[in-house]
Amino acid sequence: MSEESNPNQQVEAARLAFAREFERFANLETTLSLQQAEAEQRAIAELRTRHAGKKSTIAACKKLIGRVAPEDRAGFGQLVQRTEAEITQALDDAETKLKSIIEAARITRESIDVTIPGRRPRAGHLHPITLMRQRIEDIFVSLGYIVEDDREIETDFYNFDALNIPEGHPARDPQDTFYTTEGFALRSQTSTVQIHAMQRRGAPVRMIAPGRVFRRDTPDPTHNPMFYQVEGLCVDRGITMAHLKGTLAEFAHRLFGPETKTRFRPSYFPFTEPSAEVDYSCFNCGGKGCRICKQSGWIELGGSGMVHPNVLRAANVDPEEFTGFAFGLGIDRTCARIYQLDDIRLLFENDIRFLEQFR
Ligand code: FA5
Repeated sequence: MSEESNPNQQVEAARLAFAREFERFANLETTLSLQQAEAEQRAIAELRTRHAGKKSTIAACKKLIGRVAPEDRAGFGQLVQRTEAEITQALDDAETKLKSIIEAARITRESIDVTIPGRRPRAGHLHPITLMRQRIEDIFVSLGYIVEDDREIETDFYNFDALNIPEGHPARDPQDTFYTTEGFALRSQTSTVQIHAMQRRGAPVRMIAPGRVFRRDTPDPTHNPMFYQVEGLCVDRGITMAHLKGTLAEFAHRLFGPETKTRFRPSYFPFTEPSAEVDYSCFNCGGKGCRICKQSGWIELGGSGMVHPNVLRAANVDPEEFTGFAFGLGIDRTCARIYQLDDIRLLFENDIRFLEQFR
């Protein structure tokens, strides 16, 4: 402020300078967004510092009051006070208005329209293989079986030797198995759990072991290199083939319906003697022959047989005292049959449009 200029003019200059800058705040739009209103609030605070703060022109004018001629002092003092009050009042009004705009905007932002339908969270659901596995587990648990869960990487002992597949046996064909490091392989069947379960629990034992197995099979509508099996093992005194047949017939009734028949075809597995493939009558046509059972009337369930004495011995169970039966069923193929899928590869493609049908 120049010392020479008339003090009254200086007050007027302060008033005008403020009025110029304040003009755009005089008629604040109530439609300002929350962000805009907050920015204007900061701008008003800066304006207050510049035009009503300690270093403002009006503050300098106040210091002049004592220096003007005594006869003019009262008039000048009143002018300064009036001008300062005008400036402060304008700033206060603008600030009050902005505060109410901000408050209203916040309320709008935070308010909940209870009439809007809620957004449903996308709930997950179980995979069809898991659903199938749970149905199988429920049946066997109700028949008094425990459920075992075991490792997927196995030593040669559990994968082969203990299952009566000595070195050089054709069932060891390396084409059949994924080897990891020396002496270890991904299990090619859940039968490995027979040995672990007997070693852990001794005899008698009644268990099922659902789980993943791996084979060097080329994928096609009924084969995957990774698939699920469920192993079953029942070892006790006096167990016979009749128990095996009765158990699997009961299982088929409960899973596929009470009309279902089962049949046993002679087969060969190194770890059972005698061995049999188990079929059940087609749940779709009841045995007449249809597309699902390839016109045969029967669908394969899996392999089975009486536990070989060498397997009992490998697991430290005395074959003179105990006998047992075992079976191994394919979960993926059973799942495909039940849900009428014509290709088991669908189960692992993770196509959400396919999986969502199993909610
Ligand atoms: C076995 O794996 C024997 N461990 C079963 C067994 C257990 C016999 C206990 C005796 C005593 P197999 O190789 O047949 O048997 O396989 C059993 C089932 O697995 C088949 O019936 C089929 O449903 C399923 N399976 C076999 N290979 C595949 C594959 N590549 N993809 C999908 N499912 C398969």
